[in-house]
Amino acid sequence: MELVGSDANVLTTAFERIQREVDAAFEMFLPLPGDSRMQLVEAMRYAAIGGGKRVRPLLVALTADLYGVDRDAAVRVGCAVEAIHVYSLIHDDLPCMDDDAMRHGKPTVHCAFDEATAVLAGDSLHALAFEILADPATTADPFVRAELVATLARAAGMNGMAGGQMMDIVAEQEEFDLHTVTRLQQLKTGALLGASVEMGAILGRVAPEGRGHLRNYARDIGLAFQIADDLLDHEGDEAKAGKALRKDEEQGKATFVSLMGADKAREQAQALVDQAVGHLAQHGKEAQPLAALARYIVERDR
Ligand code: IPE
Ligand code: IPE
Ligand code: MG
Ligand code: MG
Ligand code: MG
Repeated sequence: MELVGSDANVLTTAFERIQREVDAAFEMFLPLPGDSRMQLVEAMRYAAIGGGKRVRPLLVALTADLYGVDRDAAVRVGCAVEAIHVYSLIHDDLPCMDDDAMRHGKPTVHCAFDEATAVLAGDSLHALAFEILADPATTADPFVRAELVATLARAAGMNGMAGGQMMDIVAEQEEFDLHTVTRLQQLKTGALLGASVEMGAILGRVAPEGRGHLRNYARDIGLAFQIADDLLDHEGDEAKAGKALRKDEEQGKATFVSLMGADKAREQAQALVDQAVGHLAQHGKEAQPLAALARYIVERDR
């Protein structure tokens, strides 16, 4: 596929738009209650509004765009996957997991509030995701809603993000080979990115047989995304990343960087991105933003 114009312009506009839309949607989903749940919702808002890049909602929206899906539906589904992602970050930062004090350039939720509130804010964002998907306001067709719920549930649980987080913790204690690290990354990070693309296609009423190329695209960018995160951890700028770096090596964690070295890992990520863009070949110019997003994933500095 020929890329026309500049990737940077296409992407900057698309990121700004989805960031605005996701913030506005979380504002709507998270009104402050006038009772003692106040600090729970304040913590959810603190974590969910502003800060994140919104890569997952953008993946939903750009995939949905290929099939002419209504924008509001795509934004709501994007918000659902982002709610799972934000919850995963709140819990990932807890003292019992990565024990991090900074996220998005500000104190993590358990530092700004307390641990119990952080656990409950994560729990509640997890539930909110499925509440959004099951709501007829997202899409009128109950079969589409059920498929969205099943897809996100699979990607979030033991066969997805949470399973990958378990493997990630074990990776600090055991010697993992490249094959196992690849599997770990596919679950921990790849599953939610894959679900984002899949849900865009579900909204577009693409039958499972027609989603193969999108799954291949998502698999490749998912792996590239986590290699980029590991490279950032190894050599990135903390001020730009908005979180503590050099943690993986300190914790003796097996990553692509620790197993292959930074240069090979960078080459591998680039090869995955080229392969991902290749999977979009059956589309025309309308897939340019997805191709640009794939390239951004390895070039990003935060
Ligand atoms: C960070 O994800 C955690 C990983 C899964 C590697 P992002 O880099 O998408 O985090 P934010 O939401 O943009 O901060
Ligand atoms: C976190 O991976 C992945 C999930 C939250 C599922 P990391 O622990 O590497 O993410 P950062 O570096 O803290 O953002
Ligand atoms: Mg972690
Ligand atoms: Mg972490
Ligand atoms: Mg990391």
